[in-house]
Amino acid sequence: MTDFTIRPARTSDVSAIRSLVRPLADERILLEKEAVAYFESLQEFVVAEDVAGRVIGCGALHVMWEDIAEVRTLATDASARGRGVGKALLEALMDNARALGVDRVFCLTFEVDFFGRHGFTVMEDQTAVDPEVYMELLRSTDDGVAEFLDLARVKQNTLGNTRMIARL
Ligand SMILES: CC(C)(COP(=O)(O)OP(=O)(O)OC[C@H]1O[C@@H](n2cnc3c(N)ncnc32)[C@H](O)[C@@H]1OP(=O)(O)O)[C@@H](O)C(=O)NCCC(=O)NCCS
Repeated sequence: MTDFTIRPARTSDVSAIRSLVRPLADERILLEKEAVAYFESLQEFVVAEDVAGRVIGCGALHVMWEDIAEVRTLATDASARGRGVGKALLEALMDNARALGVDRVFCLTFEVDFFGRHGFTVMEDQTAVDPEVYMELLRSTDDGVAEFLDLARVKQNTLGNTRMIARL
């Protein structure tokens, strides 16, 4: 039974999104960002809303380059896990990726089994982008992009995470 809906995020969801992320950031599972960063990237987000109108999950798709995007900040409230919320959020983000014209979707995660069941495979090497694109991505100030590139300045964020990729 589906007792939740997936929809694009609204500005009024930011505090709920931050509440979903905070406990996971405390466990170093997700990266915590300033409130302004959530408003600035709001169009990247989808949320899951239960019948009472409560936000019980969120996820974002961040475009990195012409053919590649990243699923980030995918989170289901601990009380709502195992009901298909994460799957529905991920499917919505993959639909958004297709609509945007992206070919591949990257994620950096501890949830290897979950992503593995949804078409993601562990990246064997770092050659997901051409050397020219790598050089262009180095110009980004985004920490998620730095994690994708495995840069030293974000190594503390990536410890223990697995880099995975899905083709659309
Ligand atoms: C990853 C995460 C978002 C999954 O959320 P979720 O809502 O529990 O996901 P689902 O319910 O779709 O799937 C979870 C499990 O429940 C089971 N399940 C799915 N739909 C179900 C349903 N309708 N009824 C019963 N069980 C179901 C599945 O077997 C699934 O198992 P799997 O994880 O081994 O594939 C959640 O665990 C989370 O918030 N993790 C912490 C943050 C994180 O690491 N995010 C990823 C990096 S961005």
